[in-house]
Amino acid sequence: MSDAVLRSTQGRIGILTINNPPVNALAAAVRDGIKAGIEAFGGDANIDAIVLIGGGRTFIAGADIREFGKPPQGANLNDVIAAMENCPKIVVAALHGTPLGGGLETALGAHYRVALPSTRVGLPEVHLGLLPGAGGTQRLPRLTGAKYALDAILSGRHIPAPEAKNKGIIDALVEGDDLLAGAVAHAQMLVAQNAPRRRVRDLTVTLESPDLFAETEKAIARRARGFKAPWNIIKCVQAACELPFDEGMKRERELFVELLTSQESAAQRYYFFAEREAAKVLDVPADTPQRPIKTAGIIGAGTMGGGIAMNFANAGIPVTILEAQQEALDRGLKTIRTNYENTAKRGGMKAEDVEKRMALITPTLSYDGLKDCDVIIEAVFETMEVKEGVFKKLDAVAKPGAILATNTSGLDVNQIASYTNRPGDVIGMHFFSPANVMKLLENVRGKATEKDVIATVMSLSKKIGKIPVLVGVCEGFVGNRMLRMRGIQSAYMLEEGALPQQVDKVLYDFGFPMGPFAMSDLAGNDVGWRIRQGKNEKEKRNVRYSGYVADAICELGRFGQKTGSGYFKYNLPDRTPIPDPEVEAIIEETSKKLGITRRAISDQEILERTLYPMVNEGAKILAEGMAQRSLDIDVVWVNGYGWPVYRGGPMWWADNVVGLKTIHDALMKYRDASGDPFWEPAPLLKKLVQEGKKFSQL
Ligand code: CAA
Repeated sequence: MSDAVLRSTQGRIGILTINNPPVNALAAAVRDGIKAGIEAFGGDANIDAIVLIGGGRTFIAGADIREFGKPPQGANLNDVIAAMENCPKIVVAALHGTPLGGGLETALGAHYRVALPSTRVGLPEVHLGLLPGAGGTQRLPRLTGAKYALDAILSGRHIPAPEAKNKGIIDALVEGDDLLAGAVAHAQMLVAQNAPRRRVRDLTVTLESPDLFAETEKAIARRARGFKAPWNIIKCVQAACELPFDEGMKRERELFVELLTSQESAAQRYYFFAEREAAKVLDVPADTPQRPIKTAGIIGAGTMGGGIAMNFANAGIPVTILEAQQEALDRGLKTIRTNYENTAKRGGMKAEDVEKRMALITPTLSYDGLKDCDVIIEAVFETMEVKEGVFKKLDAVAKPGAILATNTSGLDVNQIASYTNRPGDVIGMHFFSPANVMKLLENVRGKATEKDVIATVMSLSKKIGKIPVLVGVCEGFVGNRMLRMRGIQSAYMLEEGALPQQVDKVLYDFGFPMGPFAMSDLAGNDVGWRIRQGKNEKEKRNVRYSGYVADAICELGRFGQKTGSGYFKYNLPDRTPIPDPEVEAIIEETSKKLGITRRAISDQEILERTLYPMVNEGAKILAEGMAQRSLDIDVVWVNGYGWPVYRGGPMWWADNVVGLKTIHDALMKYRDASGDPFWEPAPLLKKLVQEGKKFSQL
């Protein structure tokens, strides 16, 4: 008997305790242990009922994702669940923590389920490009009806225990925190009542509407674009409604295996771990002492500062916002309040929480108001002069040990740190706009940043709901530095023969939520225009200039969505980009002025010229140590720039879908055809190709 599932008894109740930290994932030893335990207690004349419970922080949180794709070992999960369902003794699953995926499916094999009220159950396999492959698509609809089950499985959301009880997924909530005692008492009560062994498989499914499946397909068409799992999930729940249980299970298996072997799921499973790895810093051990963060300060109540402040208030951390003028401060607070009120109106938060969160935000006009803050983040205007002033003042007022962070998206964090007498306390926290919504946080490590500052900021990032990635000081950090490569080639292709709608379509079809030109229209074309105007002519001529079309568009006041036109025109408030003949004329005129004969550019060329240079830049970023691992780059791109998660991230895609040699050879092809040094393959890329290795093997 292995230690993965421990057996004990309380009177005539047999107890199986799963013991596979940290999350009791269903590894082979756990599956074997449950099956053997059920069989042993099932045949034991001294046992009347069995309680299955998780040791530690949670009931089973799912299949062991690391086992997927490897040769199967141990008992099949469906056999384990069948053993529970067919056990001659009543089986009660006692739930706490997060019984998810295979964990909830195992619990659905029990005859009854009890849970602590704080439990959250769910079938989140869709996020791994999978579907619940151990009867979840067949059993859940039998408990809740098809409509609710379909929504739960397609969203993969974590369902709070009280809601799960209302829907019949859980039979009883255990008050207090002694789950085992509650579950044993429940089992004893069932025995005393001579309650039946209620098998979920024997229940009938309620199908609320015959149009449910067609309507659901229509409703998810846009958000499920490119994903495989949602479509298979719909087919499975339909099978649950139309087929006998065993046939439904067969259908589920076929559709599960189809997903398991798909590239989309491989990418999503890789990404699950990548996101967790990204939070870890190679030279900062997990046990590095952290600085306590009880209060935060934000400098600047503009869009960025306000959004950042909301993250702290949402996490229950009191935050002080500093502005120079009362009017700007009032405006900033009003925007925050409106954002919260709108969220409450949409049902995203309780109305009474609006005031609770606002009460956590203290406005101030004086730097003195920041003197007790544990972390202070500046979100002021992006020039070094302004940052210099801010950091000198901060150095004077902040208490010793306070973390001083800059939200700069491009300035040198080392230089900013040098304006203080405590560069070790300075770090970059590059939030993405809108800062209260976007998950990505590029934390920028300066050359002097102390390890405990890094450890604290990485863990604080998670506390305020962000997905942190540690990056180094370089122009554009990881995300914008790579984005620039895509932007340059997109612009050149307009001059050479493409149109914005063609470039955008190729990237939209690849899986991005929008193409580069629609994105530029959304962000505002004037931002880049003003930066380009600030650069001198010599700097512009150093490399082939990529701003001709963009400049011409901005000169006409076409700044993007906010002015109703940019690379596209817009019938506001509808934000759908509409191709514009006027833009086409500007582009053709630009080509003529540059002496370029326009030619047809294929979709494949667009894909290669936009994405391969990003991978090449990623290689340079890795060689310079600006990202710790290729997975960090992938996390930046999936969370900050809409890279489709079912393609893993640019570096995973390069490693596993395209192949580094193909990318290398294409870069050479473009270099030889254009003579432009832009295309020179990065030394690291060349080396990996020569050695037949991948980025992930570095
Ligand atoms: N398999 C393997 N390892 C897992 C795991 C799983 N299912 N779930 C979590 N882990 C690991 C994490 O990688 C992490 O490892 P490290 O400490 O080495 O980094 C550790 O457990 C803790 O995880 P988190 O950092 O995510 O902890 P958390 O408290 O923030 O969240 C959680 C806990 C909610 C369970 C979250 O980990 C989670 O969502 N896990 C995945 C759940 C899931 O998708 N289950 C379905 C699996 S697929 C399935 O079950 C298919 C089927 O039908 C049979």
